[in-house]
Amino acid sequence: MKAKMTLAREFKIGDIDKRIYGSFIEHLGRAVYGGIYEPGHPTADENGFRGDVLELVKKLNVPIVRYPGGNFVSGYNWEDGVGPVEKRPKKLDLAWGTTEPNTFGTNEFMKWCKKADTECMMAVNLGTRGADEARNLVEYCNHKSGTYWSDLRISHGVKEPHNIKLWCLGNEMDGAWQMGAKTAVEYGRAALEASKVMKWTDPSIETVLCGSSSRNSKTFGEWEVQSLDIAYDSVDYVSLHQYYDNKTDDVQSFLAKTLELDEFIYSVICACDYVKAKKRSKKTINLSFDEWNVWYHSNNAPFEKWSVAPPLLEDIYNFEDALMVGSMLITLLRHCDRIKVACLAQLVNVIAPIFTKTGGGVVEQTIFYPFMHLSNYGRGSALLPLIDCPKYDCREFTDVPYLEAVATYNEEQEEAVIFCVNKSLDENVVLSVDLMDFDGYKPAEFISMDGYDKKTENTLACAPVKPHKNELPLMDGGVLTANLKPFSWNVIRLKKVNA
Ligand code: AHR
Repeated sequence: MKAKMTLAREFKIGDIDKRIYGSFIEHLGRAVYGGIYEPGHPTADENGFRGDVLELVKKLNVPIVRYPGGNFVSGYNWEDGVGPVEKRPKKLDLAWGTTEPNTFGTNEFMKWCKKADTECMMAVNLGTRGADEARNLVEYCNHKSGTYWSDLRISHGVKEPHNIKLWCLGNEMDGAWQMGAKTAVEYGRAALEASKVMKWTDPSIETVLCGSSSRNSKTFGEWEVQSLDIAYDSVDYVSLHQYYDNKTDDVQSFLAKTLELDEFIYSVICACDYVKAKKRSKKTINLSFDEWNVWYHSNNAPFEKWSVAPPLLEDIYNFEDALMVGSMLITLLRHCDRIKVACLAQLVNVIAPIFTKTGGGVVEQTIFYPFMHLSNYGRGSALLPLIDCPKYDCREFTDVPYLEAVATYNEEQEEAVIFCVNKSLDENVVLSVDLMDFDGYKPAEFISMDGYDKKTENTLACAPVKPHKNELPLMDGGVLTANLKPFSWNVIRLKKVNA
Protein backbone atom coordinates (compact mmCIF):
# COMPACT_ATOMS: atom_id res chain seq x y z
CA MET A 1 0.00 0.00 0.00
CA LYS A 2 1.01 3.62 -0.42
CA ALA A 3 1.14 6.44 2.09
CA LYS A 4 1.97 10.12 1.77
CA MET A 5 3.44 12.35 4.40
CA THR A 6 4.07 16.09 4.35
CA LEU A 7 6.57 17.52 6.73
CA ALA A 8 7.33 21.16 7.43
CA ARG A 9 9.02 23.11 10.17
CA GLU A 10 5.83 25.17 10.49
CA PHE A 11 3.88 22.10 11.57
CA LYS A 12 5.39 22.37 15.02
CA ILE A 13 3.45 20.78 17.85
CA GLY A 14 5.75 22.05 20.56
CA ASP A 15 9.19 21.84 22.09
CA ILE A 16 9.96 18.43 23.48
CA ASP A 17 10.68 18.53 27.19
CA LYS A 18 13.39 15.88 27.51
CA ARG A 19 11.61 14.57 30.64
CA ILE A 20 9.05 12.97 28.30
CA TYR A 21 11.67 10.19 28.05
CA GLY A 22 11.57 9.46 31.78
CA SER A 23 11.23 6.11 33.49
CA PHE A 24 10.38 4.67 36.88
CA ILE A 25 11.98 2.64 39.67
CA GLU A 26 9.69 1.41 42.43
CA HIS A 27 10.56 -0.65 45.48
CA LEU A 28 8.74 -3.55 43.85
CA GLY A 29 9.91 -7.03 42.96
CA ARG A 30 13.46 -6.97 41.61
CA ALA A 31 13.50 -3.38 40.33
CA VAL A 32 15.84 -2.19 43.08
CA TYR A 33 17.20 -5.38 44.67
CA GLY A 34 18.63 -7.55 41.89
CA GLY A 35 17.93 -4.77 39.38
CA ILE A 36 19.77 -1.50 39.78
CA TYR A 37 21.30 -2.57 43.12
CA GLU A 38 23.00 -5.86 43.77
CA PRO A 39 26.08 -5.75 46.00
CA GLY A 40 28.28 -8.72 45.22
CA HIS A 41 27.23 -8.90 41.58
CA PRO A 42 30.32 -9.30 39.36
CA THR A 43 29.60 -5.93 37.68
CA ALA A 44 28.63 -4.06 40.87
CA ASP A 45 30.63 -0.98 41.89
CA GLU A 46 31.60 0.00 45.43
CA ASN A 47 28.00 1.19 46.01
CA GLY A 48 26.48 -2.09 44.90
CA PHE A 49 25.14 -0.58 41.66
CA ARG A 50 25.09 -3.10 38.83
CA GLY A 51 27.38 -1.85 36.08
CA ASP A 52 25.73 -3.90 33.34
CA VAL A 53 22.37 -2.33 34.18
CA LEU A 54 23.83 1.18 34.36
CA GLU A 55 25.30 0.72 30.91
CA LEU A 56 21.90 -0.10 29.43
CA VAL A 57 20.17 2.69 31.35
CA LYS A 58 22.67 5.09 29.79
CA LYS A 59 21.90 3.69 26.34
CA LEU A 60 18.26 4.51 26.97
CA ASN A 61 19.30 8.09 27.78
CA VAL A 62 16.65 8.49 30.47
CA PRO A 63 16.67 12.06 31.80
CA ILE A 64 14.45 11.51 34.84
CA VAL A 65 13.41 8.53 36.99
CA ARG A 66 10.38 8.48 39.26
CA TYR A 67 11.02 6.94 42.70
CA PRO A 68 10.21 5.14 45.09
CA GLY A 69 6.66 4.27 43.90
CA GLY A 70 4.02 3.56 42.76
CA ASN A 71 1.75 1.80 45.21
CA PHE A 72 4.75 1.23 47.46
CA VAL A 73 5.08 4.92 48.31
CA SER A 74 1.65 5.04 49.91
CA GLY A 75 2.90 3.03 52.89
CA TYR A 76 6.54 4.15 52.87
CA ASN A 77 8.27 5.93 55.73
CA TRP A 78 11.19 7.59 53.99
CA GLU A 79 13.05 7.88 57.32
CA ASP A 80 13.38 4.06 57.33
CA GLY A 81 15.60 4.29 54.24
CA VAL A 82 18.21 6.81 55.43
CA GLY A 83 21.07 6.67 57.94
CA PRO A 84 23.25 3.75 58.96
CA VAL A 85 22.12 0.69 57.01
CA GLU A 86 22.47 -1.68 59.98
CA LYS A 87 19.96 0.41 61.95
CA ARG A 88 17.33 0.52 59.22
CA PRO A 89 14.16 -1.45 59.97
CA LYS A 90 12.77 -4.24 57.83
CA LYS A 91 9.10 -3.54 57.17
CA LEU A 92 6.14 -5.22 55.55
CA ASP A 93 5.19 -3.65 52.26
CA LEU A 94 1.42 -3.99 52.14
CA ALA A 95 1.20 -2.78 48.55
CA TRP A 96 2.93 -5.83 47.12
CA GLY A 97 2.88 -8.33 50.03
CA THR A 98 6.65 -8.38 50.42
CA THR A 99 9.29 -7.43 52.99
CA GLU A 100 11.19 -4.20 52.42
CA PRO A 101 14.72 -4.46 53.85
CA ASN A 102 15.39 -0.71 53.47
CA THR A 103 19.02 -1.31 52.64
CA PHE A 104 18.46 1.01 49.69
CA GLY A 105 16.81 4.39 50.22
CA THR A 106 16.81 8.04 49.21
CA ASN A 107 20.55 8.73 49.39
CA GLU A 108 21.45 5.52 47.59
CA PHE A 109 18.96 6.34 44.87
CA MET A 110 20.30 9.86 44.46
CA LYS A 111 23.81 8.50 44.15
CA TRP A 112 22.60 6.01 41.56
CA CYS A 113 20.94 8.87 39.62
CA LYS A 114 24.29 10.66 39.38
CA LYS A 115 25.93 7.51 38.07
CA ALA A 116 23.11 6.98 35.58
CA ASP A 117 23.21 10.61 34.42
CA THR A 118 19.63 11.16 35.33
CA GLU A 119 17.45 13.19 37.68
CA CYS A 120 15.00 12.06 40.31
CA MET A 121 11.26 12.63 40.30
CA MET A 122 10.48 11.99 43.95
CA ALA A 123 7.10 10.79 45.21
CA VAL A 124 5.84 11.49 48.72
CA ASN A 125 3.48 9.33 50.73
CA LEU A 126 0.02 10.88 50.87
CA GLY A 127 -1.61 7.53 51.68
CA THR A 128 -0.68 6.64 55.24
CA ARG A 129 1.07 9.98 55.81
CA GLY A 130 0.68 13.62 54.91
CA ALA A 131 2.00 17.15 54.57
CA ASP A 132 4.33 17.02 57.56
CA GLU A 133 6.39 14.02 56.46
CA ALA A 134 6.38 15.36 52.90
CA ARG A 135 7.80 18.74 53.83
CA ASN A 136 10.37 17.04 56.08
CA LEU A 137 11.56 15.02 53.12
CA VAL A 138 11.90 18.19 51.02
CA GLU A 139 13.90 19.76 53.84
CA TYR A 140 16.05 16.63 54.17
CA CYS A 141 16.76 16.53 50.45
CA ASN A 142 16.89 20.15 49.38
CA HIS A 143 17.75 22.42 52.33
CA LYS A 144 21.41 23.30 52.52
CA SER A 145 22.11 23.02 56.24
CA GLY A 146 21.40 24.37 59.72
CA THR A 147 18.07 22.67 60.39
CA TYR A 148 17.18 19.33 61.96
CA TRP A 149 16.40 17.52 58.69
CA SER A 150 19.15 19.05 56.55
CA ASP A 151 21.74 18.43 59.26
CA LEU A 152 20.48 14.87 59.58
CA ARG A 153 21.23 14.41 55.87
CA ILE A 154 24.71 15.84 56.40
CA SER A 155 25.22 13.48 59.35
CA HIS A 156 24.33 10.68 56.91
CA GLY A 157 27.34 11.67 54.84
CA VAL A 158 25.56 13.77 52.21
CA LYS A 159 26.93 17.29 52.50
CA GLU A 160 25.37 18.89 49.44
CA PRO A 161 21.58 19.01 49.06
CA HIS A 162 20.06 16.78 46.40
CA ASN A 163 18.03 19.65 44.92
CA ILE A 164 15.22 17.47 43.65
CA LYS A 165 13.01 19.61 41.45
CA LEU A 166 9.99 17.47 40.65
CA TRP A 167 7.72 15.90 43.29
CA CYS A 168 4.69 13.60 42.97
CA LEU A 169 1.94 14.21 45.51
CA GLY A 170 1.20 10.56 46.27
CA ASN A 171 0.26 7.83 43.84
CA GLU A 172 -3.06 6.68 42.33
CA MET A 173 -5.01 8.00 45.28
CA ASP A 174 -8.33 7.16 43.57
CA GLY A 175 -7.68 3.41 43.68
CA ALA A 176 -9.18 1.12 46.34
CA TRP A 177 -5.91 -0.88 46.25
CA GLN A 178 -4.01 2.16 47.44
CA MET A 179 -3.12 2.50 51.11
CA GLY A 180 -4.94 5.60 52.28
CA ALA A 181 -7.11 5.88 49.13
CA LYS A 182 -9.19 9.04 49.09
CA THR A 183 -12.14 10.68 47.44
CA ALA A 184 -11.28 13.44 44.97
CA VAL A 185 -12.16 16.10 47.53
CA GLU A 186 -10.19 14.44 50.33
CA TYR A 187 -7.23 14.05 47.99
CA GLY A 188 -7.50 17.57 46.60
CA ARG A 189 -7.24 18.94 50.15
CA ALA A 190 -4.36 16.64 51.12
CA ALA A 191 -2.46 17.44 47.93
CA LEU A 192 -3.00 21.19 48.26
CA GLU A 193 -1.77 21.28 51.85
CA ALA A 194 1.23 19.05 51.11
CA SER A 195 2.19 20.97 47.97
CA LYS A 196 1.88 24.29 49.83
CA VAL A 197 4.25 23.39 52.65
CA MET A 198 6.64 21.56 50.34
CA LYS A 199 6.91 24.71 48.21
CA TRP A 200 7.26 26.91 51.28
CA THR A 201 10.21 24.69 52.22
CA ASP A 202 11.72 24.97 48.74
CA PRO A 203 9.99 27.41 46.37
CA SER A 204 11.98 26.11 43.39
CA ILE A 205 10.22 22.73 43.26
CA GLU A 206 7.33 21.65 41.02
CA THR A 207 4.56 19.30 42.11
CA VAL A 208 2.41 16.74 40.32
CA LEU A 209 -1.19 16.14 41.33
CA CYS A 210 -2.40 12.54 40.98
CA GLY A 211 -4.91 12.19 38.21
CA SER A 212 -6.92 9.01 37.79
CA SER A 213 -5.16 5.66 38.00
CA SER A 214 -6.36 4.99 34.45
CA ARG A 215 -8.94 6.10 31.92
CA ASN A 216 -11.10 3.17 33.09
CA SER A 217 -11.23 4.38 36.66
CA LYS A 218 -14.86 4.87 37.77
CA THR A 219 -14.25 8.45 38.80
CA PHE A 220 -12.13 9.45 35.78
CA GLY A 221 -12.91 13.00 34.69
CA GLU A 222 -14.72 14.02 37.84
CA TRP A 223 -11.59 13.14 39.81
CA GLU A 224 -9.39 15.46 37.75
CA VAL A 225 -11.87 18.33 37.87
CA GLN A 226 -12.68 18.08 41.58
CA SER A 227 -9.13 17.62 42.84
CA LEU A 228 -7.75 20.29 40.51
CA ASP A 229 -10.48 22.68 41.52
CA ILE A 230 -9.08 22.51 45.05
CA ALA A 231 -5.33 22.30 44.39
CA TYR A 232 -5.02 24.23 41.11
CA ASP A 233 -3.04 27.20 42.37
CA SER A 234 -0.39 25.14 44.11
CA VAL A 235 0.35 22.33 41.63
CA ASP A 236 2.08 22.32 38.24
CA TYR A 237 1.11 19.04 36.58
CA VAL A 238 -1.61 16.44 36.71
CA SER A 239 -0.63 12.81 36.26
CA LEU A 240 -1.95 10.15 33.86
CA HIS A 241 -1.37 6.40 34.10
CA GLN A 242 -2.24 3.87 31.41
CA TYR A 243 -1.22 0.31 30.65
CA TYR A 244 -2.42 -1.73 27.68
CA ASP A 245 -2.66 -5.47 27.11
CA ASN A 246 -3.39 -7.91 24.35
CA LYS A 247 -5.21 -10.48 26.48
CA THR A 248 -7.64 -11.26 23.67
CA ASP A 249 -4.75 -11.92 21.29
CA ASP A 250 -6.13 -9.48 18.76
CA VAL A 251 -3.08 -7.58 17.64
CA GLN A 252 -4.89 -5.16 15.35
CA SER A 253 -7.10 -3.98 18.22
CA PHE A 254 -4.11 -3.93 20.56
CA LEU A 255 -2.13 -1.59 18.32
CA ALA A 256 -5.23 0.52 17.68
CA LYS A 257 -5.46 1.40 21.35
CA THR A 258 -3.29 4.44 20.69
CA LEU A 259 -6.51 6.03 19.39
CA GLU A 260 -7.96 5.61 22.87
CA LEU A 261 -4.72 6.85 24.40
CA ASP A 262 -4.93 9.95 22.26
CA GLU A 263 -8.47 10.62 23.48
CA PHE A 264 -7.45 10.00 27.07
CA ILE A 265 -4.71 12.62 26.82
CA TYR A 266 -7.05 15.03 25.13
CA SER A 267 -9.71 14.62 27.83
CA VAL A 268 -7.22 15.30 30.61
CA ILE A 269 -6.08 18.45 28.80
CA CYS A 270 -9.75 19.45 28.59
CA ALA A 271 -10.26 18.81 32.31
CA CYS A 272 -7.25 21.00 33.15
CA ASP A 273 -8.39 23.77 30.85
CA TYR A 274 -11.98 23.58 32.08
CA VAL A 275 -10.79 24.26 35.63
CA LYS A 276 -8.51 26.99 34.31
CA ALA A 277 -11.44 28.67 32.57
CA LYS A 278 -13.70 28.28 35.59
CA LYS A 279 -11.10 29.98 37.74
CA ARG A 280 -10.25 32.59 35.11
CA SER A 281 -6.67 31.56 35.82
CA LYS A 282 -3.64 32.60 33.80
CA LYS A 283 -1.85 29.45 34.85
CA THR A 284 -1.84 26.34 32.64
CA ILE A 285 -1.56 22.91 34.19
CA ASN A 286 0.53 20.54 32.10
CA LEU A 287 0.56 16.75 32.04
CA SER A 288 2.87 14.21 33.61
CA PHE A 289 2.18 10.81 32.05
CA ASP A 290 4.10 9.18 34.83
CA GLU A 291 3.17 5.53 34.21
CA TRP A 292 2.71 4.02 30.76
CA ASN A 293 3.56 0.71 29.14
CA VAL A 294 2.24 -2.68 28.08
CA TRP A 295 1.48 -4.83 31.13
CA TYR A 296 -0.23 -8.23 31.31
CA HIS A 297 2.11 -11.12 30.58
CA SER A 298 3.06 -11.66 34.20
CA ASN A 299 -0.36 -11.14 35.78
CA ASN A 300 -1.05 -13.38 38.78
CA ALA A 301 2.35 -15.07 38.69
CA PRO A 302 2.74 -16.83 42.09
CA PHE A 303 5.36 -15.62 44.57
CA GLU A 304 6.29 -16.22 48.18
CA LYS A 305 4.35 -13.82 50.39
CA TRP A 306 6.49 -11.48 52.54
CA SER A 307 9.72 -12.49 50.84
CA VAL A 308 12.34 -9.88 49.95
CA ALA A 309 12.42 -8.80 46.30
CA PRO A 310 10.57 -11.75 44.76
CA PRO A 311 10.11 -11.73 40.98
CA LEU A 312 6.99 -9.62 40.48
CA LEU A 313 5.45 -8.13 37.34
CA GLU A 314 8.25 -9.63 35.26
CA ASP A 315 6.67 -9.29 31.84
CA ILE A 316 8.71 -10.76 29.04
CA TYR A 317 7.87 -8.62 26.04
CA ASN A 318 7.45 -9.75 22.47
CA PHE A 319 7.76 -8.03 19.13
CA GLU A 320 4.16 -6.76 18.97
CA ASP A 321 4.70 -5.13 22.40
CA ALA A 322 7.70 -3.28 20.95
CA LEU A 323 5.49 -1.85 18.20
CA MET A 324 2.90 -0.87 20.81
CA VAL A 325 5.46 0.85 23.03
CA GLY A 326 6.80 2.74 20.00
CA SER A 327 3.26 3.70 19.00
CA MET A 328 2.42 4.85 22.54
CA LEU A 329 5.48 7.07 22.81
CA ILE A 330 4.77 8.51 19.36
CA THR A 331 1.27 9.36 20.62
CA LEU A 332 2.71 11.05 23.71
CA LEU A 333 5.07 13.10 21.55
CA ARG A 334 2.17 14.27 19.44
CA HIS A 335 0.97 15.96 22.64
CA CYS A 336 4.32 17.36 23.69
CA ASP A 337 2.87 20.84 23.87
CA ARG A 338 1.14 19.66 27.08
CA ILE A 339 2.91 16.46 28.17
CA LYS A 340 6.09 17.66 29.79
CA VAL A 341 6.98 14.55 31.77
CA ALA A 342 6.35 10.86 31.07
CA CYS A 343 7.72 7.72 32.67
CA LEU A 344 7.95 4.36 30.98
CA ALA A 345 6.90 2.09 33.85
CA GLN A 346 9.20 0.70 34.79
CA LEU A 347 12.97 0.60 34.09
CA VAL A 348 14.42 -2.71 35.27
CA ASN A 349 12.81 -6.18 35.74
CA VAL A 350 9.34 -4.91 36.73
CA ILE A 351 7.41 -4.41 33.45
CA ALA A 352 10.64 -3.05 32.08
CA PRO A 353 12.85 -2.67 29.01
CA ILE A 354 15.85 -4.06 30.93
CA PHE A 355 15.77 -7.55 32.39
CA THR A 356 18.34 -9.15 34.67
CA LYS A 357 19.10 -12.44 36.30
CA THR A 358 20.00 -11.91 39.93
CA GLY A 359 23.66 -12.90 40.08
CA GLY A 360 23.69 -13.27 36.29
CA GLY A 361 23.35 -11.41 33.02
CA VAL A 362 21.16 -8.72 31.59
CA VAL A 363 19.16 -8.37 28.38
CA GLU A 364 17.47 -5.66 26.36
CA GLN A 365 13.81 -6.57 26.05
CA THR A 366 12.08 -5.94 22.71
CA ILE A 367 10.52 -2.69 23.98
CA PHE A 368 14.00 -1.35 24.77
CA TYR A 369 14.72 -0.35 21.20
CA PRO A 370 11.86 1.94 20.16
CA PHE A 371 12.23 3.77 23.46
CA MET A 372 15.99 4.07 22.92
CA HIS A 373 15.55 5.44 19.41
CA LEU A 374 12.98 8.01 20.43
CA SER A 375 14.87 9.07 23.50
CA ASN A 376 18.17 9.46 21.67
CA TYR A 377 17.02 10.91 18.36
CA GLY A 378 13.66 12.49 19.22
CA ARG A 379 14.93 15.73 20.68
CA GLY A 380 14.19 19.35 19.84
CA SER A 381 10.62 19.92 18.73
CA ALA A 382 7.89 17.60 17.54
CA LEU A 383 6.32 18.13 14.12
CA LEU A 384 2.93 16.90 13.11
CA PRO A 385 3.35 14.96 9.88
CA LEU A 386 0.29 15.31 7.65
CA ILE A 387 -0.41 11.73 6.69
CA ASP A 388 -2.61 10.29 4.02
CA CYS A 389 -2.63 6.52 4.47
CA PRO A 390 -5.05 3.59 4.30
CA LYS A 391 -6.98 2.69 7.44
CA TYR A 392 -8.35 -0.52 8.90
CA ASP A 393 -11.27 -1.61 11.02
CA CYS A 394 -10.89 -4.16 13.81
CA ARG A 395 -12.96 -5.59 16.62
CA GLU A 396 -12.62 -2.62 18.93
CA PHE A 397 -11.93 0.31 16.60
CA THR A 398 -12.72 1.69 13.16
CA ASP A 399 -10.63 3.87 10.87
CA VAL A 400 -7.29 3.02 12.36
CA PRO A 401 -4.45 4.47 10.27
CA TYR A 402 -1.94 1.76 9.32
CA LEU A 403 0.83 4.26 9.99
CA GLU A 404 1.53 5.68 13.44
CA ALA A 405 4.01 8.51 13.02
CA VAL A 406 5.60 11.60 14.41
CA ALA A 407 8.59 13.65 13.32
CA THR A 408 11.08 15.59 15.37
CA TYR A 409 13.32 18.47 14.41
CA ASN A 410 16.52 19.28 16.22
CA GLU A 411 17.56 22.68 14.95
CA GLU A 412 20.88 22.69 16.77
CA GLN A 413 21.91 19.33 15.35
CA GLU A 414 20.34 20.13 11.96
CA GLU A 415 18.53 16.83 12.12
CA ALA A 416 14.94 15.83 11.36
CA VAL A 417 13.73 12.34 12.25
CA ILE A 418 10.63 10.44 11.21
CA PHE A 419 9.48 7.70 13.57
CA CYS A 420 6.78 5.38 12.29
CA VAL A 421 5.12 2.04 12.86
CA ASN A 422 3.59 0.10 10.01
CA LYS A 423 0.73 -1.75 11.74
CA SER A 424 -0.17 -3.90 8.75
CA LEU A 425 0.58 -7.56 9.37
CA ASP A 426 1.25 -8.40 5.77
CA GLU A 427 1.65 -5.33 3.56
CA ASN A 428 4.57 -3.06 2.85
CA VAL A 429 3.92 0.66 3.01
CA VAL A 430 5.63 2.69 0.32
CA LEU A 431 5.92 6.00 2.08
CA SER A 432 6.62 9.18 0.17
CA VAL A 433 7.51 12.18 2.26
CA ASP A 434 7.29 15.69 0.88
CA LEU A 435 9.99 17.49 2.81
CA MET A 436 8.57 20.98 2.08
CA ASP A 437 10.98 23.48 3.62
CA PHE A 438 13.66 20.99 4.61
CA ASP A 439 15.93 22.09 1.77
CA GLY A 440 19.30 20.43 1.80
CA TYR A 441 18.21 17.64 4.18
CA LYS A 442 19.16 14.16 3.04
CA PRO A 443 18.58 10.71 4.58
CA ALA A 444 21.51 9.83 6.81
CA GLU A 445 20.27 6.64 8.46
CA PHE A 446 17.26 4.35 8.13
CA ILE A 447 16.82 1.95 11.03
CA SER A 448 14.09 -0.67 11.33
CA MET A 449 12.90 -3.60 13.33
CA ASP A 450 10.90 -6.03 11.21
CA GLY A 451 10.64 -9.58 10.00
CA TYR A 452 9.96 -11.18 13.40
CA ASP A 453 6.97 -13.24 14.32
CA LYS A 454 4.80 -10.98 16.47
CA LYS A 455 5.28 -13.20 19.51
CA THR A 456 9.10 -13.30 19.34
CA GLU A 457 10.68 -12.42 22.69
CA ASN A 458 14.13 -11.45 23.88
CA THR A 459 15.19 -13.53 26.85
CA LEU A 460 18.44 -13.96 28.74
CA ALA A 461 19.04 -17.15 26.78
CA CYS A 462 18.27 -15.77 23.34
CA ALA A 463 17.59 -12.22 22.18
CA PRO A 464 16.90 -12.18 18.45
CA VAL A 465 14.90 -8.94 18.27
CA LYS A 466 17.08 -5.97 17.54
CA PRO A 467 17.23 -3.06 15.13
CA HIS A 468 19.03 -3.21 11.81
CA LYS A 469 20.07 -0.62 9.25
CA ASN A 470 18.48 -0.42 5.80
CA GLU A 471 19.66 1.09 2.58
CA LEU A 472 19.00 4.81 2.61
CA PRO A 473 15.63 5.88 1.18
CA LEU A 474 15.68 7.54 -2.22
CA MET A 475 15.31 11.31 -2.60
CA ASP A 476 13.93 12.93 -5.70
CA GLY A 477 13.09 16.62 -5.93
CA GLY A 478 12.50 17.08 -2.21
CA VAL A 479 10.45 13.89 -1.94
CA LEU A 480 11.78 10.94 0.00
CA THR A 481 10.52 7.43 -0.69
CA ALA A 482 10.94 4.71 1.92
CA ASN A 483 9.76 1.15 1.93
CA LEU A 484 8.33 0.21 5.32
CA LYS A 485 8.15 -3.55 5.77
CA PRO A 486 4.97 -5.14 7.14
CA PHE A 487 4.61 -4.95 10.91
CA SER A 488 7.67 -2.80 11.46
CA TRP A 489 9.26 -0.08 13.57
CA ASN A 490 11.09 2.55 11.51
CA VAL A 491 13.37 5.51 12.15
CA ILE A 492 14.45 7.73 9.26
CA ARG A 493 17.12 10.25 10.21
CA LEU A 494 17.66 13.23 7.91
CA LYS A 495 20.67 15.50 8.18
CA LYS A 496 21.36 18.83 6.57
CA VAL A 497 24.04 18.44 3.95
CA ASN A 498 25.93 21.64 3.26
CA ALA A 499 26.21 22.30 -0.48
O1 AHR B 1 3.90 0.18 37.92
C1 AHR B 1 3.25 -0.79 38.68
C2 AHR B 1 2.10 -0.22 39.49
O2 AHR B 1 1.09 0.19 38.61
C3 AHR B 1 2.39 1.00 40.32
O3 AHR B 1 2.90 0.71 41.56
C4 AHR B 1 1.03 1.63 40.43
O4 AHR B 1 1.10 3.02 40.58
C5 AHR B 1 0.29 1.20 39.20
O5 AHR B 1 -0.95 0.71 39.47
